[in-house]
Amino acid sequence: MAPKTNGVGIMPEDTHICVVMVGLPARGKSYIAQRAQRYLKWLSIPAATFNVGNYRRENAPHPSADFFDTNNAEGERKRRVAAEAAVSDMLKWFKSGGVVGILDATNSTKERRKWVLERIASEGIEVLFVESRCDDEDLIMANIRDVKTTSPDYVGQDPEKAAMDFRERIRNYEKVYKSINDDGDEDHLTYLKIMNVGKKVFINRIQDYLQSRVVYFLMNLHIRPRSVWLSRHGESMLNLEGRIGGDAPLSHRGEEYALKLPELVRESVGSDRPLTVWTSTLKRTIATARHLPKHYNQLQWKALDELDAGVCDGMTYQEIADQYPEDFQARDEDKYNYRYRGGESYRDVVIRLEPIIMELERSEDILIISHQAVIRCIYAYFMQKTQEDSPWVPVPLHTLIKLTPRAYGTEMQTYRANIKAVSTWRGKGSTAKHEDPAPEGGI
Ligand code: ADP
Ligand code: F6P
Ligand code: PEP
Repeated sequence: MAPKTNGVGIMPEDTHICVVMVGLPARGKSYIAQRAQRYLKWLSIPAATFNVGNYRRENAPHPSADFFDTNNAEGERKRRVAAEAAVSDMLKWFKSGGVVGILDATNSTKERRKWVLERIASEGIEVLFVESRCDDEDLIMANIRDVKTTSPDYVGQDPEKAAMDFRERIRNYEKVYKSINDDGDEDHLTYLKIMNVGKKVFINRIQDYLQSRVVYFLMNLHIRPRSVWLSRHGESMLNLEGRIGGDAPLSHRGEEYALKLPELVRESVGSDRPLTVWTSTLKRTIATARHLPKHYNQLQWKALDELDAGVCDGMTYQEIADQYPEDFQARDEDKYNYRYRGGESYRDVVIRLEPIIMELERSEDILIISHQAVIRCIYAYFMQKTQEDSPWVPVPLHTLIKLTPRAYGTEMQTYRANIKAVSTWRGKGSTAKHEDPAPEGGI
């Protein structure tokens, strides 16, 4: 059978990977699972997470710490039922086209890992264990306060009591926990072990391209506080004419935005901490960045250049509709996948942005000054927009967007420069030069 291509390159038709999380509670397993899922789905790789805790809540919604004592027979039975249900749903999901399934549970004993491996590998699915180990007591307590006291397990309970109960829950797990291959008899397993949020990592028997991509991505995750700022360039001379692409200079109002940007950034950062600035290689983003403080490092990335409109570069939407009516309609019907003649689609842009996302995950405070389509793709990664919606997200000019990753999502704030600009947003079917104002529901 011919190999199929997807976001991360070429992979055999039948690659299916189950990522099996391992570790004590409050070690960031759900966080890691959610990040991996978001990354893979953004790259069009069907991925889903099966959280055993959610299944367990169906028959034990508010367990106290002793439920997790392995001497508690009823607790053990219910946890086993929950694990069976999660694995069974995951196997069904693989049969319906799933590619990377993530089993989010503690899987903290050798016996449980053996059972999971047998159950999943017997269906022809590769198993990649991902363990998070952490012995930083302060971090663990911070994690408990960050996410566990608001868990549905403790709904309506005093957060301090909930934190203490959760600490007790962990003690029960500690009695039976075995880190992968600690006894030397799990060397046959494929695994990634992350110690203290990546201070050290161990990898064992990683087999193929997709596995190594997942492992590399997870090795780059960190949890230091940081934000990512996004801005389009200031209004350009071609924006004024309603023409796409090109390499035009800024308009007068675009220049005003460039002058205003340092103040907007200062207001949004709220301190003197320096940012690293990434622009595209096009004049309009470089000009927009040029008044930012000199001590900010600046880097130009070709990957941040605007979506290449191929033969339509420099045209208005009306000219495209007149000269390439079928293309114009095809783009409206499937904007994510439509590739301009001699140019790119949104899907192509996402693929070339993958190294940017990888680098963003490794980095701290970054300000990206780029273009409408590129910003939409990066925004879609953080805000989990679908391929259907992301190419239509209104991203106004002269607006700074601040994205702050949180435990289970991303917080967004916007800062408007209050400098007028044309709207470059275009609704389905429209050939208007400027549709002002852009619709609700965007940034
Ligand atoms: P678990 O699923 O292991 O019970 P969670 O994912 O619910 O834990 O915990 C989320 C918290 O863990 C967040 O506050 C996040 O910052 C933190 N975290 C993320 N990754 C790690 C890691 N590798 N080690 C320790 N803590 C982490
Ligand atoms: O109009 C500005 C612009 O950045 C063009 O250069 C680019 O082709 C376009 O936006 C992308 O937006 P859309 O995909 O909505 O046409
Ligand atoms: C849970 O019940 O919350 C859970 C994570 O289950 P287990 O430890 O059995 O994987």
